[in-house]
Amino acid sequence: MQEASLTIGDRTVTLPITVGSEGEMAIDISNLRKETGFTTFDRGFGNTAETKSAITFIDGEKGILRYRGYPIEQLAENADFLEVAWLLSSGELPTRPQLETFTEEITSHSLVREDMKHLFEAFPHAAHPMQILASEVSAMASYYPDALNPNDEEAVRISTTRLISKVITMAAWSYKYRVHQPYVYPRNDLDYSSRFLHMMFSVPAEEYEPDPVISNALNTLFILHADHEQNCSASTVRIVGSGQANLFSSIASGIHALSGPLHGGANQSVVEMLTEMVEQPGDVGHWVERAKDKDDPFRLMGFGHRVYRNFDPRAMIIKKVAQDVLDMLGLDDPLLDMAMELEKIVLDDEYFVSRKLYPNVDFYSGVIYRAMGFPTDMFTVLFAIGRMPGWIAQWNEMHRDPTTRIGRPRQIYTGETERNYPGIDGS
Ligand code: ACO
Repeated sequence: MQEASLTIGDRTVTLPITVGSEGEMAIDISNLRKETGFTTFDRGFGNTAETKSAITFIDGEKGILRYRGYPIEQLAENADFLEVAWLLSSGELPTRPQLETFTEEITSHSLVREDMKHLFEAFPHAAHPMQILASEVSAMASYYPDALNPNDEEAVRISTTRLISKVITMAAWSYKYRVHQPYVYPRNDLDYSSRFLHMMFSVPAEEYEPDPVISNALNTLFILHADHEQNCSASTVRIVGSGQANLFSSIASGIHALSGPLHGGANQSVVEMLTEMVEQPGDVGHWVERAKDKDDPFRLMGFGHRVYRNFDPRAMIIKKVAQDVLDMLGLDDPLLDMAMELEKIVLDDEYFVSRKLYPNVDFYSGVIYRAMGFPTDMFTVLFAIGRMPGWIAQWNEMHRDPTTRIGRPRQIYTGETERNYPGIDGS
């Protein structure tokens, strides 16, 4: 076993080195505090591996993303989203009969309990659909009390099916409620993406026929979002689950984590930013200058990533899908033109180049969602649908790992040292 040695003052300790299957190396500091009294300090877990994981591999320098070893480019081009969902959870691609059975199972659970409809109605119509979705998922724990034990494999399997199946129904209904339209029930003769599109855009007065171009593009987008190793929401799901919270509560926490504009909420922010840029014609460079000004809180949304320091491979695929979808639909979107112009300027700008800030997955996804007819505040919900199998796979992996401990970071206390309580009238 390889070891590292650490010298603090006149004391040297040896620390084991853990090596991953792609050669990543980590110094195991689990016993550091016990042996030296020192802890480690790492804001935002920028250089801390909390777990070993066999699900997703990212090489941020080379722009590589693989699920269970399969390059994202191959999966995005050829696979079905439910096939990828199976892959993430089981570790292997399904055989054709396995995929058929899995798809049938997911399809047969598409209805949401009728009494859960009242939950939607408890929200103001202006509520953000991410908040509604998180609450619905959280409520599932109360509607399915038979399947909450995280250590019961069959309970987890049925909860997984229910989540992947019902999330599109709940997502569509959160939108329908918002726009004062009747809920549309799932049509099980449609594939997963088409079923979702149908529930989103059909009204009793007019049946919506999902266009295969749009269904296929949505399938690709779901695949691109399906997992991304230990990001903010996946880590949230793991840490909540590590306290033995049930799957529904853990996933609801992940949805909340994803909603923030620095995480999944960025796809909505990108479109809002591009719209503002288009509506205030002028020099695009002005926005770039604002983003560079440390006294201005404005940031270019859709640029930068904690891990990718070269390019985000998902952004490259999405850019092409965006162009294809717009071409096939015969649309010309000023937002796409603006996005391309902005990207060009940024990729040539020393500030962004030196900080390795490239377009991320959210930069072009909003443009496609818009072309498909989704309202801006549904964009992050679409991300959540795609990410569902990844969160579940991460949660399962954490539970099956016998070395898992409850997530509990340390801190460096910087507050007052001990002082005596003076009483309310004391000085
Ligand atoms: N615009 C302008 N400057 C930026 C941007 C940006 N979008 N992103 C980072 N920077 C700058 C920072 O100001 C910092 O500059 P400094 O070194 O001079 O202080 C430097 O680049 C490093 O940035 P950090 O914030 O330290 O990078 P971190 O890894 O912590 O944050 C994040 C990554 C949150 C994605 C950040 O790049 C950002 O805010 N981007 C915009 C929001 C966004 O698109 N989020 C989606 C990410 S993808 C996803 O979650 C699915």
